[in-house]
Amino acid sequence: MARWDYKKDIDYNAIDMQKVRGDSFLFQLLTIASFIEITSDTYAKNLSEYYDDNPKAVQWLQEDWEKEEIQHGEALKRYVLHVWPEFPWQKAYERFLELYLPLCNTGSFQPTRGLEMLARMIVETGTSTMYRAFEDYAKSLDEPVLAGLTHYIYKDEVNHYSYFDRYFKYYNQSENLGRKEILQVIVQRLKEASSEDIEMGFQSIYEIQNDAVFDRSSYELFKKELNKLAKKHYPYSMAIKMTMQPLNLNKTLETTMVPVIRGAMKVLGI
Ligand SMILES: [Fe+2]
Ligand SMILES: [Fe+2]
Repeated sequence: MARWDYKKDIDYNAIDMQKVRGDSFLFQLLTIASFIEITSDTYAKNLSEYYDDNPKAVQWLQEDWEKEEIQHGEALKRYVLHVWPEFPWQKAYERFLELYLPLCNTGSFQPTRGLEMLARMIVETGTSTMYRAFEDYAKSLDEPVLAGLTHYIYKDEVNHYSYFDRYFKYYNQSENLGRKEILQVIVQRLKEASSEDIEMGFQSIYEIQNDAVFDRSSYELFKKELNKLAKKHYPYSMAIKMTMQPLNLNKTLETTMVPVIRGAMKVLGI
């Protein structure tokens, strides 16, 4: 079970509206994150099917991971609706589901259970570092409620990473994955992390707010803002450390790999 409860632990009435209400980029970021997080039940179901050999993993996925991810979505949704109550969240979310659900199937899973655990580690690296950046951004805006909320989420994501790491190691005892295979999955997941779901979230907001066909150039502007945020607030060294951990490298190799991973992240726009 989640170690915090957004209904009790987040005081939405204490939000400093002046600091955030005019920030449309922040609105987009938090709304997109709420859409993706709140849809975690679909992933939990697919993952539980994939790991039906492992009742302990399934229990953790259903009783902890899924509940915590959905809580992230609910907590962010409430923040968005508190600050921007005129936004038809539900309507935009329904559009998001139309675009996003066809992508959520076990067909996109890795070929082995160990490699899929590894892919989940990369996803959790993405979320951990993203919420760490959001927390830092919220602090720079001097909005303590958002800083507190994103800190809670950040802690959960790091915890998810360590669970998936544990299961990755468990499966790797029998799968004996080589570094090349591991690196391939890392790079592949890094590519995916930077794209589709965020763009679909953006598209749904755009369509509902403008009542118009999606204009890709507005997404390019959003990405520019995202890059600006990353430059100031993204914890790159934490991301690199978490990304490289499954490679289990010695110190010399690790030093060699840092610029490779950093370079890959740059190319991918992370
Ligand atoms: Fe989450
Ligand atoms: Fe997570």
